Amino acid sequence: MFGICYYPEHWPESQWKTDARMMAGLGLTYVRIGEFAWSRLEPNPGELNFAWLDKAIEILNDAGLKVILGTPTATPPKWLVDKWPEVLPVSPETGRVRGFGSRRHYDFSSKIYLREALRISEEMAKRYGEHNAVIGWQTDNELCCHDTTLSGSNTAKQAFQCWCEQRYGSIDALNEAWGNVFWSMEYRHFGEIDLPLGAVTETNPAHRLAYRRFSSDKVIDFHQQMIAVIRQHAPGKLITHNFIPMVDTGVDNYALAKNLDFTSYDNYPLGRTDLQFADWPAEKLQRYMRTGHPDFGTYYQDQTRGLNDGEFWIMEQQPGPVNWAANNPRPAPGMIRFWTLEAFAHGASCVCYFRWRQAPFAQEQMHAGLLRPDGSKADAWPQMEQARDEIKALDLLTHSPSRASVALISGAEAQWVSEIERQGEAYDFNNIQFEFYSALRALGVNVDFVSVEADFSQYTIVIAPSLPIIDEAFVQRCKRSKATFIFAPRAGAKTREFAYPLTLPPGPLQAIAPLRVLSVETLRADCPGELHWQGKIYEAGIWREELAAENGEVLGRYEDGKPAILQFGNVIYMGTLTCSDFLKDFFHAICDRAGIATYRWGEDIRVCQRGALMFAFNYAGEAQDLPLPDDGDIVLGQRRIAPYGVTVWKSAASALQ
Ligand code: GAL
Repeated sequence: MFGICYYPEHWPESQWKTDARMMAGLGLTYVRIGEFAWSRLEPNPGELNFAWLDKAIEILNDAGLKVILGTPTATPPKWLVDKWPEVLPVSPETGRVRGFGSRRHYDFSSKIYLREALRISEEMAKRYGEHNAVIGWQTDNELCCHDTTLSGSNTAKQAFQCWCEQRYGSIDALNEAWGNVFWSMEYRHFGEIDLPLGAVTETNPAHRLAYRRFSSDKVIDFHQQMIAVIRQHAPGKLITHNFIPMVDTGVDNYALAKNLDFTSYDNYPLGRTDLQFADWPAEKLQRYMRTGHPDFGTYYQDQTRGLNDGEFWIMEQQPGPVNWAANNPRPAPGMIRFWTLEAFAHGASCVCYFRWRQAPFAQEQMHAGLLRPDGSKADAWPQMEQARDEIKALDLLTHSPSRASVALISGAEAQWVSEIERQGEAYDFNNIQFEFYSALRALGVNVDFVSVEADFSQYTIVIAPSLPIIDEAFVQRCKRSKATFIFAPRAGAKTREFAYPLTLPPGPLQAIAPLRVLSVETLRADCPGELHWQGKIYEAGIWREELAAENGEVLGRYEDGKPAILQFGNVIYMGTLTCSDFLKDFFHAICDRAGIATYRWGEDIRVCQRGALMFAFNYAGEAQDLPLPDDGDIVLGQRRIAPYGVTVWKSAASALQ
């Protein structure tokens, strides 16, 4: 259930045997290799050199280790980009070519790059597809990392024109769908369409939505072809990809994950906390500087687990300070062990650490590994040993991850809409989704992320923090489910082609939530109004809708007494964004009503269920008392949970929360 990321090409061959022996001795099973090694696998065009990789795999195999082989397609070598410069992407912001010298320097619209990526992947798959030590494959590496989903290249423009032709059929249909009569934006033929970049002021939102859809489709197409070529030569082997969260790439990760055997996530809680919460005041950030925000790592893990409704791995686990955030603190004592147990609690079936030994050269020389460059054991080593023994003692594999009772609907389209049409600068899709998730997690409720196309029938509560585009089929699936649905503002507020529904928002949702949004106002985040609910006053801010309904129960009201939250049977419609205190109290009440157990045990304690095991994680640097009825069922840790500690107990109800 443990693995490591290793780069044999970075070390002298004489070291490989010792490395492999030490890896096996540490209790590792899997070694991921190869994902950036193109210049060593094909030093000159067509001149393949697999001898070193054969040797490395043989040595790992002899030590009893299993290999996950990465395709090296995130790093095309210099000769390739010099031979075909059109494979390089163009920055949509500056219009400049993004050149060679780091990684991910390729354009998803480039047919030449696709051909080359498939060629090298096929060569590798032919050679190692049936090799018994190679049990699985990783496609590319973190597709779309470093903002590489969009390209402003000429290649992308031509591909976009074809994509538009396929989608709309005729130029009249496109003009009509986008509303191009506005500002004389009508086109005469598809060849006239530019990418929506570099115009004087804002471009048509429908045009931008099409560009986002197209760009996502290109990535998906690239990935699906990569999967197919590996599948063909490596029958029966596992294929995965280490996903960058959808909120960062803007790619439809649900579609990207199709045809994989399992999904993977690279867990760097500190680097990501530093980037994501850069504008937090010091007193708030400092608390989590060495732990990561309590819900941040799991927010992305739960999303990755939800992508294919199956198995997921941590393919890279932060082992100490990283090199790539603005600030790179050392993790709090014991955090590597803590994060490892946390990932397993959230359903991971394997945790691999990044990386085996800290590299003494190039870009990541300041990034920790399990070993220091001199081969001595770094902080993560004993922590990994501890986690390994604890996971074994818990017999974790016998506890299948629990399906949650609560689902959060997420999707790339919703994000595109909110980025394209900001309307209020404080409306941030990721913040909103995170606040909803975090409120549920503060209650200790397991959360499944699901796509808009999911089957909702197995959930008790389904929440859509932001879902502007929905269709009839979605509404039908809601109708078939007995779940309580909670829709936040903007639900159904746009048609598929980014128009305002003529029946007024929430558009098709009116079939189950018969109301009309008469007007929308957006407010600065620090200027909220009021939300009155059950005798208490909370914030109603950022995005506020004026609601009109003939029926429906008014659950919450604005400061002027007008309805802010309405309920129609099992459907609740929130007309306003609000504060996390409200979300916690409101979701708490709804969980209580639905018979879902909650564990609201303070700001820094998070509870999660896996099978019959309940895990509590203490994100605070002080010990705390867990309100457990007795100690009898504790199988790891204590009722007084240690600083940055973990306590595990057996739940009486082994089923769902
Ligand atoms: C990941 C990436 C790795 C390495 C690591 C450093 O995002 O997949 O190749 O760069 O970050 O933290």
